[in-house]
Amino acid sequence: MADSLLQIVIENLQAFLQDELATILGVNSQIQELSGNLVAIHAVLQDAEEKQIRDRAVKLWLQNLSDAAHVLDDILDECSIQSNRLQSQHCLTPFHPMTIMFRRDIGKRMKEMVDRFRRIDEERKRFELRGTVPERQQQEDEAWRQTSSGTTEHHVYGRDQDIEKIVEFLSRSADRVDDLSVYPIVGMGGLGKTTLVGRVFKDSKVMEHFDLRIWVCVSTDFNTMKILNSIVESVSGHNPNLSTLEALQNKVQEILLGKRYLLVLDDVWSTEKWEDLKSVLLSGGGTKGSAILVTSRIESVASVMGTCPTHRLSPLSEDDNWLLFKYHAFGSNKVERTELVTIGKQIVKKCGGSPLASKALGSLLRNKQDEIQWLNVLESKLWDILEEDDIIVRALKISYFNLKLPLRRCFAFCAIFPEDFQMEKEQLIHLWMANGLIKSKGKLEIEDVGNEAWEEL
Ligand SMILES: Nc1ncnc2c1ncn2[C@@H]1O[C@H](COP(=O)(O)OP(=O)(O)OP(=O)(O)O)[C@@H](O)[C@H]1O
Ligand SMILES: [Mg+2]
Repeated sequence: MADSLLQIVIENLQAFLQDELATILGVNSQIQELSGNLVAIHAVLQDAEEKQIRDRAVKLWLQNLSDAAHVLDDILDECSIQSNRLQSQHCLTPFHPMTIMFRRDIGKRMKEMVDRFRRIDEERKRFELRGTVPERQQQEDEAWRQTSSGTTEHHVYGRDQDIEKIVEFLSRSADRVDDLSVYPIVGMGGLGKTTLVGRVFKDSKVMEHFDLRIWVCVSTDFNTMKILNSIVESVSGHNPNLSTLEALQNKVQEILLGKRYLLVLDDVWSTEKWEDLKSVLLSGGGTKGSAILVTSRIESVASVMGTCPTHRLSPLSEDDNWLLFKYHAFGSNKVERTELVTIGKQIVKKCGGSPLASKALGSLLRNKQDEIQWLNVLESKLWDILEEDDIIVRALKISYFNLKLPLRRCFAFCAIFPEDFQMEKEQLIHLWMANGLIKSKGKLEIEDVGNEAWEEL
């Protein structure tokens, strides 16, 4: 937050300097000093944002900085509006009374700003904040990123026994007495439930066994209409645009009629409406032997919905998690340097069998060539400080605070999307552009910068 604001203010200050307005208002030297201070502060923001988690003084300093930057930004805005107004009234000359009054007012407020930012800059020195990555490093990072982009191949490590067990259950679905078999899979966030079910969904035996395979991402809002809509959409390929429950119900039953189907309900959080959905599915349509796979983080959801014992997903074995980490950290065609492998294995140990944690940190280190950068992750104080957070949140925070500031902004921006929303690359890049989060860089067009940010995130 402070970063984007500061960047805008620095740009506005510099534009102000190039305009003769600063001279007319007699604030040239103040603007220069402010600009110098802000550039120095901006250089250490990345480090400050990380340190604020454990250092309250840094947090307060950042707040103070952000407040001051807002005030300064308002003053600059006011200057621009007022000068336009004076200009249109032909009063913007050094000796016009209106300009003199305006100059006195702005001069006083700018002086206050200079004092305020001087104090902020003095405080900055107390915190011993580190500057951003040197230019050489950034160039290396970018070169590596370019060779790595396009590696979207999706590997699933381990989980063979889980897959086998679920496929076996599904292939015997027709032998069971239940009208509808519901197989529940439970595990904490990021453990790989969706990935596992995705593999099962594409398993050749499963594809052969079922006439229809339907995937619905349920998420926190178990909305029967939405789920029925998704079922129709997933089978027919388009939204049925039916507004009543009854019409949708009929459509679903028509689609499922005489078919043996597999329905995946991914990421279920509540069972409040489960009975409604179940009765629609049971009151016609599919044949015996149809099955539902449910994934959830919540035990009680699994036990309410399941018609068989809950499948509790275990942490990924350390070996498999290392393979996953290695794939993301080194890519498929990169030399695995021994010293990095040693550190990497210790990082994976800290991930406690969470594939999401391992993937996040592996991907983060993909752009880092120096041993010290790997050690920074391994020895990050955030592992110990954030005790109340679980392993994944800690790993994700470490990964977040290791992103360069512009990327952090692009990432944080994605919070505007609802959970499980499928983002469109082009649309997201345009939103980043429209919100001023990315800019063209040297020879790179703004779209290319957006593309890079997308690849890296
Ligand atoms: N066995 C695996 N091999 C490779 N990557 C994996 C594996 N398991 C999980 N992942 C990766 O880890 C990340 C998290 O996995 P996934 O989304 O499947 O977790 P989840 O249990 O469904 O989490 P949530 O509860 O948040 O829905 C994904 O990016 C996925 O690609
Ligand atoms: Mg999931």
